[in-house]
Amino acid sequence: MIKRIGVLNSGGDCPGLNAVIEGVVGEASRNNWEVVGFHDGFEGLLSDEENKRYEILSPERCRGIRTMGGTILGTVNKGHFNVKVGVNQKGVIEPAVLEKTKKTVAKLGIDALVVIGGDGSQSTALLLAEEGIPVVGVPKTIDNDLGCTDVTFGFDSAVAVVTEAFDRLHTTANAHQRLIVVEIMGRHAGWITLVGGIAGNADVILIPEIPFSLDVVTDFILKRRAEGAREIMVAISEGAKLDTGLVLKENRDSGEVRLGGIGEVVTKALEASTGMEARCCVLGHTQRGGSPVPTDRVLGTRFGVAAVNLIAEGKFSHMVALKGVDLVAEPISAAVNQLKLVQPTSQLVHTARGLGICLGDGL
Ligand code: F6P
Repeated sequence: MIKRIGVLNSGGDCPGLNAVIEGVVGEASRNNWEVVGFHDGFEGLLSDEENKRYEILSPERCRGIRTMGGTILGTVNKGHFNVKVGVNQKGVIEPAVLEKTKKTVAKLGIDALVVIGGDGSQSTALLLAEEGIPVVGVPKTIDNDLGCTDVTFGFDSAVAVVTEAFDRLHTTANAHQRLIVVEIMGRHAGWITLVGGIAGNADVILIPEIPFSLDVVTDFILKRRAEGAREIMVAISEGAKLDTGLVLKENRDSGEVRLGGIGEVVTKALEASTGMEARCCVLGHTQRGGSPVPTDRVLGTRFGVAAVNLIAEGKFSHMVALKGVDLVAEPISAAVNQLKLVQPTSQLVHTARGLGICLGDGL
């Protein structure tokens, strides 16, 4: 018999997190369940008398937050529960941290925990499940690279930012006859770059899944210029790879490597090889900030309501997922063991080629 559930979001923030929280609290209150919102990701589970990092979330507190970006609960992407140290690498939670977590869960009478997060956070959720804490997952990442779901909330909002940036950058690039390289988030997957690049009328789209050649891109740009193009717009994922295998990255002390910097390098290289004046624009965290677009507000809310329904059905260690237009339940273990990457032979990539967009591979 469920009386009280917990909810937390972990990892990088993502437009639509508040929508999930509103959905969870709204549906839980219809079941007469109370919801405890843990602050700052899993760290909230380490609350004690001196350091209370949770709050009771009433429907009144959460009403209408689905329109807001960020998260009312706060989040962290490092800390005591950072168990994912790379693709397909699983870590462990320190025994003392686990003990404290179990104590908090028991003390607060949490019957089940909703974990809103990406690959790493869902891996942590599974470790907690192994320790007897019932969990259900809600998939989250602007990168859209989590397996088992067609799409994650936050992705459409990121694509909207990229598209608007392209609309703005096109006009200034045209005025100055410049080449602008736009560096876009996407650690392993090029979804935001590909969809945003197509929507934003990019001439060149470079994604991690299709290694690119600078010579191919240079020849393409020179041809476009010879045809009379005033501006050239290049969309590049932060995780894009040269066909020589080079990836630019900056190491963190722990956890995932921090990407970034490839845009500047490619800008300099293309300026030298094409003779066009070039600029680099790194969109960075603008892609994660701000209000969610309507589709993310609705998808996030649907996910939140569906997560509570999973708890009511006792379907623990499962994650809500979108398949077509339906919400389904998928085992978290299946989602975290695969990255959903852009397939180079997919219809989406074919569409880009059909538009005459250069993908850097000469095909
Ligand atoms: O995974 C989401 C993401 O936005 C990636 O696209 C990006 O590489 C990373 O997070 C940035 O993380 P941070 O906010 O820690 O710099």
